[in-house]
Amino acid sequence: MRHSTNPRFIKRYLFNTLIFLSFVVIMFLLVKRWKYHSELEFLQKLVDENSKMIDEMGSLTPIGRKSKDAWRIPDVPEARIFSAYFDPRPEVVLNEGSEATRDNGWALIRIIAIIDVSYEGSEQTCYYKFPAKTPIDETDIFMEARSIAVKIIAKQENHGEMKYSASFVLCRLMTTENGKLPIQVTFSSTAGKTPEELKKIDFVNVQYRRRNMSSDQSRFMGACIPSLHHNYDKYTSLVEFIEFYRMMGVNHFTFYKTSASENVSRILDYYEKLGLVTIIQWKLPPFYIFEQNLRYNGIFAALNDCLYRSTLVEGYEYIVNVDLDEFIVPRKHNNFHQLMTQLNPVSSHNENVVFVFRNMFFYLTHLDSPVPQIPQDLPKLLLHTKTTRLKKIHQAYERSKYICVGYEVVELGNHQVWFTKTVPWFIQYGK
Ligand SMILES: *[C@@H]1O[C@H](CO)[C@@H](O)[C@H](O)[C@H]1NC(C)=O
Ligand SMILES: *[C@@H]1O[C@H](CO)[C@@H](O)[C@H](O)[C@H]1NC(C)=O
Repeated sequence: MRHSTNPRFIKRYLFNTLIFLSFVVIMFLLVKRWKYHSELEFLQKLVDENSKMIDEMGSLTPIGRKSKDAWRIPDVPEARIFSAYFDPRPEVVLNEGSEATRDNGWALIRIIAIIDVSYEGSEQTCYYKFPAKTPIDETDIFMEARSIAVKIIAKQENHGEMKYSASFVLCRLMTTENGKLPIQVTFSSTAGKTPEELKKIDFVNVQYRRRNMSSDQSRFMGACIPSLHHNYDKYTSLVEFIEFYRMMGVNHFTFYKTSASENVSRILDYYEKLGLVTIIQWKLPPFYIFEQNLRYNGIFAALNDCLYRSTLVEGYEYIVNVDLDEFIVPRKHNNFHQLMTQLNPVSSHNENVVFVFRNMFFYLTHLDSPVPQIPQDLPKLLLHTKTTRLKKIHQAYERSKYICVGYEVVELGNHQVWFTKTVPWFIQYGK
């Protein structure tokens, strides 16, 4: 018998090979893990080193009414841009593959846009505007870089039906030679534009953090209300909505206002003066048509603008996405503070970051429940009188609503969160 066909030898050979291969795989994964962690650390270090500059930019950006946010025209046909956010989350930057150096690419600038869906995945040029060098030399400084990605937001909810969609245009962070951060950004299909040409294109402000994430209870939860349209006029319901969520622990409301009646506008203005409400003027150009070529008034642009505004700029811990006729009512807890203490306990903090609430209907056409109404001429409360519901409880994600930990989230949809911060699988195991 020839030596090599000896079964014992083959067995041993296979065994050794297996041991060796396992060793190689484990080493490979360990090196990858080490590399991933050192890249995260590198990015975080750059954010920390630039902390002062970032905070300075945050204090420069006008907010509220002064921000004059509106849909602006970039140099791409039939596209609009609304806002842009400085996104320094290392996991997100790594995931998008923004080749980071000490100067550039260690954070993302995320433009909220509406584009023709055929631009998905296309390559655009991001243009950055920096503050003038000195108060005397007032010429703006511009830079450019290839975009990292053009993404359709909540693509699954577009069902491939609409010509236009909300989108993220992702740009690498660029800094000037003396380390200045951009103040404005825009994008274009053509590279190499001159400063004179750029003066004719709209830019939007880059919004930087005004607060860090904290466990500050006054920054517990922000609500995003994506659509006041068709001359919205249910002003008593609006008061009920705001006061209910205030009782539940919501600290701030962001309303996207396309059209609303005089009474509704006055109520919103009142709450805005109290500092409880931000009103975003959401007037889309007329060629975007409601549910004909764009989903619900650009709802996904509004929701994600609200996510980034509330989380990365204003530092709210939780985000709740609800419409004016939607109420998340805890059954055992008195408010969302108590609810979230149970759902997201300190012991396993942020192991789960999205909390989905299944939907059920309480039809307004149902008869009022017999509740005392004193004095009788006060408007009725929906939550008081409409207490009969349909038997059916919808499955999760079917008309569901959610509360999420904003800092952990990347992309919101209407009934679910589409993307959270992701780390590769070889990092997830054995955390
Ligand atoms: C945020 O945190 C960093 C580092 O902990 C700190 O240097 C910075 O001043 C904070 N910024 C704000 C706006 O609180
Ligand atoms: C506005 O609200 C007031 C107070 O409830 C009401 O009397 C009035 O009719 C409302 N106006 C309109 C146009 O609905």
